[in-house]
Amino acid sequence: MSASDRDLLDLAVETARDAARLVVGMREQGVDVSGTKSSPIDVVTEADTACEELIRQRLLGARPSDGFLGEEGDDVAGTSGIRWIVDPIDGTVNYLYGIPQYAVSIAAARGDEVVAGVVLSPVSGLEYAATLGAGATCNGQPIEVRRPPGLEQSLVGTGFGYETEVRERGAQAVARMLPRVRDIRRQGSCALDLCAVASGQLDAYVEEGPHIWDYAAGGLIAIEAGAALEIWTSVVGHDLVVCAPALGWSEFSDLVLACDFLGVGSA
Ligand code: IPD
Repeated sequence: MSASDRDLLDLAVETARDAARLVVGMREQGVDVSGTKSSPIDVVTEADTACEELIRQRLLGARPSDGFLGEEGDDVAGTSGIRWIVDPIDGTVNYLYGIPQYAVSIAAARGDEVVAGVVLSPVSGLEYAATLGAGATCNGQPIEVRRPPGLEQSLVGTGFGYETEVRERGAQAVARMLPRVRDIRRQGSCALDLCAVASGQLDAYVEEGPHIWDYAAGGLIAIEAGAALEIWTSVVGHDLVVCAPALGWSEFSDLVLACDFLGVGSA
């Protein structure tokens, strides 16, 4: 079954809207932790699991030979060359606490390349979307990264993951970065942080530890809005996500190295 990137995006958007309705509805009934993953603070709620199941059924119902990788489930190989990469709720801790900063994130990859992605924030109603080479939008309107203001004027997003050692390393790197930028934001959703870079609400973003389901869709949206995005490998082998407007990339990536977000001990 061949599909254009636009077809894949349309299916992703329709599915994300259904998923968003489900998670908002479940939140109104009250949220409880149903399990933990990498550490006791890395939680799963029933809504994460139910939302991923809805997304899987919708996507694979429409395209049964695609692959599917979801945060809460297995990596199912397909035969079509398309693989869906899904975070049913990115920002689960915010969701648990009733903080609106969470999103449904759905990306489609052709081989190893992400070609379509949607990040939908159900509470704000902001729906970010992109296809490869065709630009990025928010609620249908084109979006662009902010013009790089210089490091000392930059507002930088970050996060700290769930593992103690990663959090210690991230906190030390952020302490080195803080005196050299305008300020730091930790909003609690990697996907929305990348969309914030895409729409000019952040100047850059760096974090050790997100997984591909956290950054696949938001990464494409940021790139299509004019950002550069690289995934480096930290000292313990985690992904280090670095994103900044392409025009300010070398300045920001040098700062990330200088602050030792990689944890190689050079700072
Ligand atoms: C998390 C969020 C958070 C980031 C973590 C992610 P989850 O995803 O994106 O902002 O700091 O690294 O794991 O667990 O809410 O899907």
